[in-house]
Amino acid sequence: MFYVLPVLIFIGFIFFTATENPPSEIGSDPKYVGVNSCVGACHKTESQGSQLSIWESSKHANAFKVLQTDEANKIAEGKGFTTPAAETPECLKCHTTGKTVDASAFEETFDITQGVQCESCHGAGSEYKKLSIMKDKQKSIDNGLQVHSEGEAFCTGCHNSESPTFKGFNYAEMWDKIKHPKPASE
Ligand code: HEC
Ligand code: HEC
Ligand code: HEC
Repeated sequence: MFYVLPVLIFIGFIFFTATENPPSEIGSDPKYVGVNSCVGACHKTESQGSQLSIWESSKHANAFKVLQTDEANKIAEGKGFTTPAAETPECLKCHTTGKTVDASAFEETFDITQGVQCESCHGAGSEYKKLSIMKDKQKSIDNGLQVHSEGEAFCTGCHNSESPTFKGFNYAEMWDKIKHPKPASE
């Protein structure tokens, strides 16, 4: 019995330090900056992994534009919405970046028509995009970069039966279509 209390305190301490995020280290709330700012001179070269062209040729880059089609408007109408699909928040939330956050979270370079873009998956980039920070993965994470070791669970946040056109989701197959790793050596 004597041992129980210190153990509980220790667990509580771990939990507290693990969940406490030091906001003081982040200068200001990260803002969405758009694909061009993410790519800069970096994420487009072959030696870095050609993230730009892989994304551009994926359907994610088209996810907003697809809402501007007659097909999308019909789907929205069928669901009982009275606004065009591209203006319906219930559609935008999976088809664009940051629809659920305040307008102040966007820098001028942000472009809604880029659909599901780098920051939809990696988090708002204003604080981690600097080369000096990007070079260091841990520093980037401290400044808002999101990495997704959980893969599938992250994708199914959008790829689920709430999507009116849901066709199922095979993670391995789908990841293969959009994967864009940094090559092991440069
Ligand atoms: C649909 C979600 C999604 C989009 C869109 C996306 N990524 Fe990723 N990205 C991932 C996932 C998942 C991984 C693998 C796990 C991780 O490192 O986060 C990854 C990995 C990476 C890596 C490799 C990290 C490493 O250490 O190997 C880089 C670099 C990267 N993404 C940059 C980009 C850039 C730049 C864009 C936009 C042009 C982009 N990503 C768009 C989900 C996405
Ligand atoms: C923010 C929401 C969102 C997230 C997160 C997301 N997706 Fe998507 N994904 C979409 C939307 C919307 C489309 C459809 C775009 C279109 O058809 O124009 C799509 C389409 C795709 C397609 C094209 C499907 C086809 O028929 O060729 C693939 C592949 C894909 N996603 C893979 C992934 C993977 C893998 C992840 C996780 C790493 C992921 N997605 C995370 C929203 C998302
Ligand atoms: C829960 C996330 C989510 C919501 C909400 C959502 N979509 Fe999608 N949408 C997707 C994904 C993921 C895809 C890729 C196909 C799929 O569902 O597997 C997609 C694909 C599409 C496509 C491309 C056609 C196709 O068959 O691939 C259209 C058009 C579309 N959605 C319209 C809409 C409209 C209109 C709304 C609002 C009424 C909406 N979506 C709401 C996630 C979503």
